[in-house]
Amino acid sequence: MVTDVALDSKKANGLVEDPFVDASGQPDSAPRFWDAFKVSKEQIDGEIDRLKSLPRPANGRRRSYIVHPQSDRNSITPGLRATIEVVMPGEVVETTANNSSSVAICIEGQGRALIDGKAFDMTRHDTLSVPNMASQSYASTGDEAYVRLVFSDAPILEYLRALYVSDGVGTGAAASAEPIEHKRDPMADFIYPMPTGGGALKTYHAFIDPEVVEQSAHLWKWEEVKTFLNDMDKNTKDLRAAIITMYWNPKTGRTHGSTNTITAWMSGGVDPNWTGKKWDMARSHRHNVTAMNYAIAGNWKTIVEREEISWGPGDLVLTAPAWAAHSNGRFDREAYTFAIQDNALLAAMNSTILQEYVNRPVIHLGARPGFEA
Ligand SMILES: [Fe+2]
Repeated sequence: MVTDVALDSKKANGLVEDPFVDASGQPDSAPRFWDAFKVSKEQIDGEIDRLKSLPRPANGRRRSYIVHPQSDRNSITPGLRATIEVVMPGEVVETTANNSSSVAICIEGQGRALIDGKAFDMTRHDTLSVPNMASQSYASTGDEAYVRLVFSDAPILEYLRALYVSDGVGTGAAASAEPIEHKRDPMADFIYPMPTGGGALKTYHAFIDPEVVEQSAHLWKWEEVKTFLNDMDKNTKDLRAAIITMYWNPKTGRTHGSTNTITAWMSGGVDPNWTGKKWDMARSHRHNVTAMNYAIAGNWKTIVEREEISWGPGDLVLTAPAWAAHSNGRFDREAYTFAIQDNALLAAMNSTILQEYVNRPVIHLGARPGFEA
């Protein structure tokens, strides 16, 4: 899937000829974000039907990637992959454990996900986060196919050549690890502050036996999320404060993830103040976090870098390519949209940059005070 330039200039003892690129006098520059794009409900339904019609594949996985035309790694954003996964009635699909994490929304049917031995029953629009190295199996529990739209951070790991794919099936570390007697070396917590200031020193024990933060799968039931959204105060200055809720995994703390890299959201609700006369549009802004939306109900519109895209239930839209100025809005008394961002990844990297007002300085979110909605 990912190809490298062939290395044909290697000399003896690992040497390569002229490994330098002159950058003298050249300013630092950032690559441009990808274009916004939409995949319609009709396109997604058509692909689901095609997957349903296939004979059962050798590994049982009926799946298709939804690929951005600018991607060279079957991804939908530079860092995330979107996959349609179909499980037919009576089928059980086991997946290969790997060190990526994912968030999936059920878009059709109902099914049971078994993650590291724990069962999660999903119906339409329920959302499940799956941690890294988890053993996973999926079964349809109804008369129809169980269909998930899965968002994974594998492309980042592929880019880093850091993706690990287990050579067995259903052998996630958490599921297969026998309880073993483990005594943590006290030196793992040893800290030597630098006598003249600056950082500190730790030992090899710290590196090989860091503090463990166990990650587990989490299920957000759609009906419960919907009730929460509808109970939120709708009389706020900033529309977003009235309609946005984050699917937070407490183990990710202040980086605000559903997994350690991916943050899912649900926005919308019933707006008692809706007049039916105009679009409710949020303020135009930009951030280097990339956002996608999958509409659940209602009519939605995005203006991204002056391009207007309207979307509705079942459409998947790249609404906020990193650093693109954008504004989302709705035209309905009751409307909902599911969103996926690489928010937690950028927060962990201390790299989140946000510009809430076009004429004001950017905010280094989490490192400096944020803004008030
Ligand atoms: Fe945004």
